[in-house]
Amino acid sequence: MVKAVVAGAAGGIGQPLSLLLKLSPYVSELALYDVVNSPGVAADLSHISSRAKVTGYLPAEDGLKLAFTGADVIVIPAGIPRKPGMTRDDLFNINAGIVRDLVTGIAQYAPTAFVLVISNPVNSTVPIAVEVLKKHGVFNPAKVFGVTTLDIVRSETFTAQITGQADPSSYRIPVIGGHSGDTIVPLLSLAQPKVDGLTDDVRDGLIKRIQFGGDEVVQAKEGKGSATLSMAYAGFRFVESILKAASGQSGLVENTYVYLSGIPGGEEVKSATGGLDYFSTPVELGPQGATKVHNLISKASDYELGLLKVAYSGLAANIKKGVDFIVAPAPAK
Ligand code: NAD
Ligand code: LMR
Repeated sequence: MVKAVVAGAAGGIGQPLSLLLKLSPYVSELALYDVVNSPGVAADLSHISSRAKVTGYLPAEDGLKLAFTGADVIVIPAGIPRKPGMTRDDLFNINAGIVRDLVTGIAQYAPTAFVLVISNPVNSTVPIAVEVLKKHGVFNPAKVFGVTTLDIVRSETFTAQITGQADPSSYRIPVIGGHSGDTIVPLLSLAQPKVDGLTDDVRDGLIKRIQFGGDEVVQAKEGKGSATLSMAYAGFRFVESILKAASGQSGLVENTYVYLSGIPGGEEVKSATGGLDYFSTPVELGPQGATKVHNLISKASDYELGLLKVAYSGLAANIKKGVDFIVAPAPAK
């Protein structure tokens, strides 16, 4: 019996992600929470003849408490998306408070749930989530994840478009660092199957496209939001791995942005980054969440180490901003 919750379920990501979760054999109960329209989305999904029981909640009448209580996994795509010309960090002022309040609810009503943060800027919202859980004395590093799977999905797709690989999902291309612009670092040198013979220009163009793939969608949607359907696919892929591992399947490894200390292997990655507390990297998953963090920095090419150096400074600033939002909030003006 697995209860999954989507917080932000009526949104562009929330709706298709909820649909995919409704279809999953790993989910027996699906609770949809949003500040608008979640009962409507739940009513609609509830007509699908798969096994998960669907309920929808608004903030009124203890909706958050009812939605979160008993949850095994809570996915958070709540918050505003970018418009053309914005960076993910420009979303901080609104989304930081949304994530803080939702995770406060998790600390109160579902302190042992897996917490999957999609809301941007992920580089900062995950530190916010962790600091809130720490403040409530319920933080478990093995159970809090920033969802960076879309960068992996894009690296598979964009690489296959260049090489002609018929099934893009057969690629395994690690993308490490964070989730914004040049904090996203694809390690093409470690691709499986190997990606050989690219000219420097083609390689540089491919890396830039993976790093700034989100902008392509933001621009194409002309002010009507950012990636939603590809994100729902990516988010579902990650949730399913968490649920498969929780059900006892072995061998599951996913790239995700985690708090390094407290997960085996994390201190080694932290020291390789020059001391970052958070990093996206391949993480082994077990029944209780993250069991091991893989260090790919030691295997990166010199060229990739150059990209990583740039990523580290951006990440350090993003992480500090998230942590400070909880531990040292700016005084009200
Ligand atoms: P959206 O505006 O379509 O949907 C967001 C939903 O959140 C809305 O339904 C809104 O009502 C709801 N919401 C707002 N405040 C809430 C609260 N306090 N509690 C519950 N629900 C609340 O936006 P979207 O396109 O679904 O994107 C959501 C977020 O995901 C954005 O921040 C976006 O940048 C981010 N995103 C992240 C990735 C990633 O790779 N991690 C990819 C795409 C988008
Ligand atoms: C993405 O990578 O598509 C998301 O982070 C949304 C965005 O703002 O680009």
